[in-house]
Amino acid sequence: MSEKAKLTIGDQSWEFDTFVGSEGEKAIDTRKLRSTTGYIAYDDGYGNTGSCKSEISFIDGEKGILRHRGYPVEQLAEKAGFLETAYLIIYGELPTRAQATKFRRLVHDNTEIHVGIESHFDGFPPNSHPMAILAALINSLGCYYPELATNNRQQDLENFDTAAPFLISKVRTLAAMAYRTEMGMPFVYPDPNLLYSQNFLHMMFSTPYQKYEASETITRALDLFLLLHADHEQNCSTSTVRMVASGGANLFASVSAGVSALWGPLHGGANTAVIKMLQAIHKDGDDGTRFIEAAKRKEARLMGFGHRVYKSFDPRAKILGEVCVKVLDELKQEDPLLDIARRLEQAALEDSYFIERNLYPNVDFYSGILLKAIGIPVDMFTVMFAIGRMPGWIANWREIANVKDGRIHRPRQIYTGPGPRDFIPFDER
Ligand code: CMC
Repeated sequence: MSEKAKLTIGDQSWEFDTFVGSEGEKAIDTRKLRSTTGYIAYDDGYGNTGSCKSEISFIDGEKGILRHRGYPVEQLAEKAGFLETAYLIIYGELPTRAQATKFRRLVHDNTEIHVGIESHFDGFPPNSHPMAILAALINSLGCYYPELATNNRQQDLENFDTAAPFLISKVRTLAAMAYRTEMGMPFVYPDPNLLYSQNFLHMMFSTPYQKYEASETITRALDLFLLLHADHEQNCSTSTVRMVASGGANLFASVSAGVSALWGPLHGGANTAVIKMLQAIHKDGDDGTRFIEAAKRKEARLMGFGHRVYKSFDPRAKILGEVCVKVLDELKQEDPLLDIARRLEQAALEDSYFIERNLYPNVDFYSGILLKAIGIPVDMFTVMFAIGRMPGWIANWREIANVKDGRIHRPRQIYTGPGPRDFIPFDER
């Protein structure tokens, strides 16, 4: 029998069940809190709220651990590729060779975009942000392939094995098209003979006269970047996907909401914010010292630092930081921003303000420098995060869609506005 949690308010007490997750995470089952006590739990930012049970990813923020379906991210980064990791995250097991080949083929077979969708790009003004375009067009996909987006849960689940690789493929093509639209350049059609990340770079950078040939270093670095972003338990965008899905919405509508949620600078937009911060520091002739002091006075925020869950280090940041140096070395590139980033990291790690608040570099701290080194424009950084996070969103949609008798997500609130008032006509206001 599970331990009980006791809640006492005044002279009344209530007991609640507790339970423990497979990695020892403890929870109090408060589902009957309001109906038995009349109270609700107030947890601004959900820092203490388990919104679901999930079998997909596990994070131990104190120890800097991230595992997908039990496999440490370090092992996946070393031994697997993005599509293999995507399969693992979505289906729960590493694919056999036959499953991997089939999945890869389904991704390759779905690279093209319906010509009808191409005309949507004409409706966006020049310089439109590619995240806005991406969110809109992922949702629009459902209009062109209605059989994959029915909002009939059973039917959407029956078509899931088609929809999952379809989306992983289409998000990459749409992302490249969004970039070409922003730049006012003609689209480049995918080449089914190229690897996933190579094909993306081809659609981004090839011209009618010259095919872009990505080096192995760049191809591998991009694949690793995508792999390291593939899932991250209940972050802002993934929770959004689950929230939307809880109402019965189809996969396309749900992940399109995830793209919008990702855009903000405190979430996926942080990789763009980091580069802009480093460029501003460089332009000011600061070596980082003045910026650190401003961050401590709360006049600036050290973007790419801090995390709601990681309190010692972010294992993804560690891997990306190392890869970043390797890629710059191999490409024989020097980036003054990398020196500033290292100085900021060093200064912050030795400063009591950051130490006391457990603020360490997160995945976004070095990812911008890496993306910049491999030629990705700054406006596309968050789009790259979205391509990488697609498997996680898809897996979380599937998980919630499979919950029998799942309830719609509908938090409560503590109302703090005015009490009941009589309406005042215009001339008396
Ligand atoms: N620079 C300076 N101070 C900070 C920072 C930072 N980057 N992050 C947190 N703090 C301070 C904050 O002001 C607060 O100080 P005090 O206790 O004096 O009020 C304390 O640290 C706790 O911060 P918080 O805002 O309560 O932390 P949170 O868990 O709500 O926010 C965060 C987490 C990631 C939004 C935040 O650390 C942040 O804004 N970081 C910069 C943006 C960023 O890099 N985001 C990417 C996150 S990783 C990618 C992803 O998964 O989305």
